[in-house]
Amino acid sequence: MTTPVLEARDVTMRFGGLTAVRSVDFTVNSGEIVGLIGPNGAGKTTFFNCLTGLYVPTEGTVSYQGKVLPPKPHLVTKAGVARTFQNIRLFANMTVLENVLVGRHTRTKEGLWSALLRGPGFKKAERASEERAMELLEFIGLAHKRDHLARNLPYGEQRKLEIARALASEPGLLLLDEPTAGMNPQETRATEELVFAIRDQGIAVLVIEHDMRFIFNLCDRVAVLVQGEKLVEGTSEVVQADERVVAAYLGEPFEGEPADDTGTAATAEETDTADETDAAPAPPETPAAGEDTGPDTAEPDGTGPQSTASTKGDTP
Ligand SMILES: Nc1ncnc2c1ncn2[C@@H]1O[C@H](COP(=O)(O)OP(=O)(O)OP(=O)(O)O)[C@@H](O)[C@H]1O
Ligand SMILES: [Mg+2]
Repeated sequence: MTTPVLEARDVTMRFGGLTAVRSVDFTVNSGEIVGLIGPNGAGKTTFFNCLTGLYVPTEGTVSYQGKVLPPKPHLVTKAGVARTFQNIRLFANMTVLENVLVGRHTRTKEGLWSALLRGPGFKKAERASEERAMELLEFIGLAHKRDHLARNLPYGEQRKLEIARALASEPGLLLLDEPTAGMNPQETRATEELVFAIRDQGIAVLVIEHDMRFIFNLCDRVAVLVQGEKLVEGTSEVVQADERVVAAYLGEPFEGEPADDTGTAATAEETDTADETDAAPAPPETPAAGEDTGPDTAEPDGTGPQSTASTKGDTP
């Protein structure tokens, strides 16, 4: 039986005169992978920011497992909702392993004094954290790069590392904002498998993507946001066939939807990768070059938490 994990009720977010999200009701149930799609500027990232405490919605409430979430990102993470960012946010000058360890801080009980004194309790907790972080790196396939600096990873691996860092907080719900942006077809396919594997571990997933093949293969349910409003919500089949969605976003019927290639959605071979970029129609407006799709490198002299890319869309 499915139970609601996340419930957004009547969420509105205004910036001055601009209503970026308007009266959106939205639910993610346990065991589900839900997609959120829509044109550039539709309000998808803003909605994520409302769900994760980066923005306090102008109106409406967001609950996780029946409790209203506190409007502070670290408390939302602590409650069990983790996310990745459209613009990758890694600690560029920390190692792969250290980045995952940072993601664990909401789950470690050892306090400041314990950390400063480095007593036995701290050392034990540190060891356990490192073991878990390595498990997660194995899971996403980056264990062999544990000591590499995050900024030296190829773009696709930085995106994966962000997922590992999010998983390190042991969430019950994972929000992914354009996880395959800038990835090649093989990496995109691998990410699809990774999301299924995450769901199979009992973590519900909400994912924003412009890659329609990815979304329609992956999601149990898809919601379409247009100009801040939820236009349609339903199964991949229902959404793809909806004339309003086609008119507002898809532009033309999507070919190769799961309903058509029965059983191959999640397990398709890698052999057709050469054609993959052409398989999904480009959305009417693809992200502008240099915004989120390019392999941006991090500043070499950064010291604090920083984006390895630009920060459009994710900062209040
Ligand atoms: N902090 C902010 N202040 C003012 N306006 C904002 C802010 N954040 C977002 N907006 C505006 O809200 C609207 C929705 O933006 P948002 O980034 O949520 O869209 P999106 O659906 O994620 O688009 P994309 O697919 O390009 O990532 C846009 O018009 C954007 O300019
Ligand atoms: Mg966005």
